[in-house]
Amino acid sequence: MHKVRIVQKLNLQPIERRLEAMNEAGNNTFLLHNDDVFMDMLTDSGVNAMSDQQLAAMMVADDSYAGSATYTRLEKKLNEIFGMDYFLPAHQGRAAENIISQVLVKEGDVVPMNYHFTTTKAHIVLNGGVVEEVVIDEGLEVTSTHPFKGNIDIKKLREVITSNGPEKIAFVRMEAGTNLIGGQPFSVQNLEEVRAVCDEFDLLLVLDASLLADNLYFNKQREEACKSLSIREITRRIADLSDILYFSARKLGSARGGGICIRDEALFSRMRGLVPLYEGFLTYGGMSVREMEALTVGLEETMDETNINQGPQFIEYMVDELAKLGVPVITPPGGLGCHINAMEFVDHIPQTEYPAGALAAALYIVSGVRGMERGTMSEQREPDGTELLANMELVRLAMPRRVFTLSQVKYAVDRIEWLYKHRHLIGGLTFTEEPEILRFFYGRLQPVSDWQEKLVAQFRKDFGDSL
Ligand code: F0G
Repeated sequence: MHKVRIVQKLNLQPIERRLEAMNEAGNNTFLLHNDDVFMDMLTDSGVNAMSDQQLAAMMVADDSYAGSATYTRLEKKLNEIFGMDYFLPAHQGRAAENIISQVLVKEGDVVPMNYHFTTTKAHIVLNGGVVEEVVIDEGLEVTSTHPFKGNIDIKKLREVITSNGPEKIAFVRMEAGTNLIGGQPFSVQNLEEVRAVCDEFDLLLVLDASLLADNLYFNKQREEACKSLSIREITRRIADLSDILYFSARKLGSARGGGICIRDEALFSRMRGLVPLYEGFLTYGGMSVREMEALTVGLEETMDETNINQGPQFIEYMVDELAKLGVPVITPPGGLGCHINAMEFVDHIPQTEYPAGALAAALYIVSGVRGMERGTMSEQREPDGTELLANMELVRLAMPRRVFTLSQVKYAVDRIEWLYKHRHLIGGLTFTEEPEILRFFYGRLQPVSDWQEKLVAQFRKDFGDSL
């Protein structure tokens, strides 16, 4: 329920330039320049379209270092929506993860969770902890009809707690709209069950609410018990079950920033000291006041179902169209984006040659669409240097909220269909520069053969002069 009033010019470079650009970027879509990108589906993070109300609010921000009225407005809105008494601002989601991990994770601790996110795991590991994934088995099945593939398997959770001993569990983490397994939601009922286990063993339940908007939409659509509730009521139920709730405001609230909402005063006091150390003073935490105003409005807009439904509905359209064409995609459609299953799309490429990274490079070359590798490249090697092969090899085509038109989505589907027909031409990648931490962000790779040139030749043969 919106119309477009501000637009940004796009470029569609010829395929020869795209091939060149991909190689300049070390075959890593993170390193492409936006001038060379037609549809940027890398992420939904910090690139969602803002509303007129958000932009207007940015003009009345209060810059005071301390005691800022902007901060008070944000704090009040968070309290109103989530019902937690304490808030710590941070410059983005991973900064919140840094603070939470430094305070709660000790050497040898275990953090069970439905599924990890890259930055979450990095911070837990950096503080000496290990991540244990206890998502239901269906969560890792690529095609499924399970409506809540992000649910925690209660039996697995209990096993992790009892086998390690509850004193070794730093906290239990639930991620809304589980990012790395295809934007899959959890049900409120599952969160209630997780809460009961946490109460039994006296454990903290930490909610990563970065992708909460999508999760809320699916709760309302797919969960019988939520159908008669408003988005605001569902939000409060979820928050009431959590001890700590943190988020990236680059996703939640369509702004930029982040923060931690905390129920308990003692916990708040333990975390508070790290904010001025790493982020900024307690009334901005590294965020610009303008973004904080946009976030306050964005949080309120998240409570409107006709606002948060646009992303999931476009994603559903894209997933359904691709599935009809036989292209392997994650089902049911989740939030965040459409996820192509590279393990099947390019089943001739071994995981050690990064099938999802290779497919993301190939897709950019044939379309100018920039997606993101979410597979083995996004993992970190084991301490002995062996590859940690990912459970899933995905190319994520994120759907920034309210940014694309449906005809652009159709263009992407059309090019993916062509690439699928010529998938045998796609080959693997190998690292030429491999950073130790979060290597997928800025590592550089090269193709294992001249497969990219062959792909371009086939494109020219089929499309003639077309871009
Ligand atoms: N948690 C989840 C579930 C996320 O998806 C992200 C970011 C973060 C935490 C970290 O937040 O970026 O503000 O520091 N996801 C981005 C993405 C990077 O593209 O999916 P951040």
